Amino acid sequence: MPNAYISGTGSFVPPNVVTNDELREKYGIDTTNEWIVKRTGIEARRFSERGIATSDLGLEAAKKAIANAKIEPHDLDLIIFATLSPDHAFPGSGVYLQQKLGLCDGPNAKFVPALDVRNQCSGFLYSLATATSFVKSGAAKHVLVVGAETHSAALDLTTRGRGIAALFGDGAGAVVVSATEEDRGIRSFKLGADGRHADALAQRVWDIKKRPFIDVDENGNGLVPASDLWANMDGKLVFKNAVERMTTVLMETLLAQGWTGNDIDLFLFHQANLRINQYIADMLAIPPEKTIHNIQRYGNTTAATIPLLLDEANQTGRLTPGTKVALVAFGSGFTWGSCLLEW
Ligand code: UT7
Repeated sequence: MPNAYISGTGSFVPPNVVTNDELREKYGIDTTNEWIVKRTGIEARRFSERGIATSDLGLEAAKKAIANAKIEPHDLDLIIFATLSPDHAFPGSGVYLQQKLGLCDGPNAKFVPALDVRNQCSGFLYSLATATSFVKSGAAKHVLVVGAETHSAALDLTTRGRGIAALFGDGAGAVVVSATEEDRGIRSFKLGADGRHADALAQRVWDIKKRPFIDVDENGNGLVPASDLWANMDGKLVFKNAVERMTTVLMETLLAQGWTGNDIDLFLFHQANLRINQYIADMLAIPPEKTIHNIQRYGNTTAATIPLLLDEANQTGRLTPGTKVALVAFGSGFTWGSCLLEW
């Protein structure tokens, strides 16, 4: 059975920087830089322009990851796209990305399978686990895993929505997971979910219980109340569960692997709130130099946070052969996961 390892990383964030002060000055949101920084650590986020889709952000990250892995798009055997902000309700963004990568063009078209993973903040880790299984089973040699989000299109950028609008930003990260006979790579995973809290962080604009699923006027045009249009969150419940679940799943994964926290060179946490990650680091006595964060610059980019961090670590020389890395995430669902790997 081959091992699965990350052979390439890439990332992309849109150039438009929106600071906390700009949320107030440009969008008229009753907030302050102090409130947001104190509670979350976020100083700015990126918003992409109208006309840009999530698959476009994913494409930029994917091209870099493919180049970094020193392969061509046609070497891919599978595309996995993690997002909660897909281009459309359906089909998934994976097929748009496949087409944009040029895989459907000309006589050499390669119609590789493409699937979307809808697991919000832990979507990248669920996708990485899926890619690893494909590679280890021999079903694929190279799998592209993308985490990308366009939150800016679906945030209530008014004072009514400030509890959520201040937290999220756009961005994309990608990795290529490849087969190797070398003794390295992705060592173990643990994934979990607790559907009792499915409504604690949700966007229910699409409500299939209704008939039709969105209320319509006499002309057949959709009418969506603000309470359904925008995401809802029980912030305190999410915060508490994030700390508990991320700490527990990380400990469980380390124990199962026979490693301790001291063995880990780099901890890459999902970037939902700097305070959540500081709690976890304090509880597990993880020194600050063993973590990196990007939430200050990008906000919460959901499925993109961990691949963005991985690319940053790779580009800055933090990942060398043998480096032991722990990845941990938690989010809507609730869903969570942890992965241990040896670079
Ligand atoms: O990937 C998973 C995604 N989400 C998370 O991990 C989020 C986890 N939760 C959190 O990080 C925190 O709950 C938040 C940072 C979201 C909120 O912090 P909090 O201390 O739980 O604040 P709160 O929601 O209880 O709000 C406290 C006050 C409220 O005002 P009143 O009712 O006390 O008058 C809010 O209206 O702060 C107000 N508020 C704001 N004020 C200024 C909420 N958002 C803002 C804002 N600026 N952006």
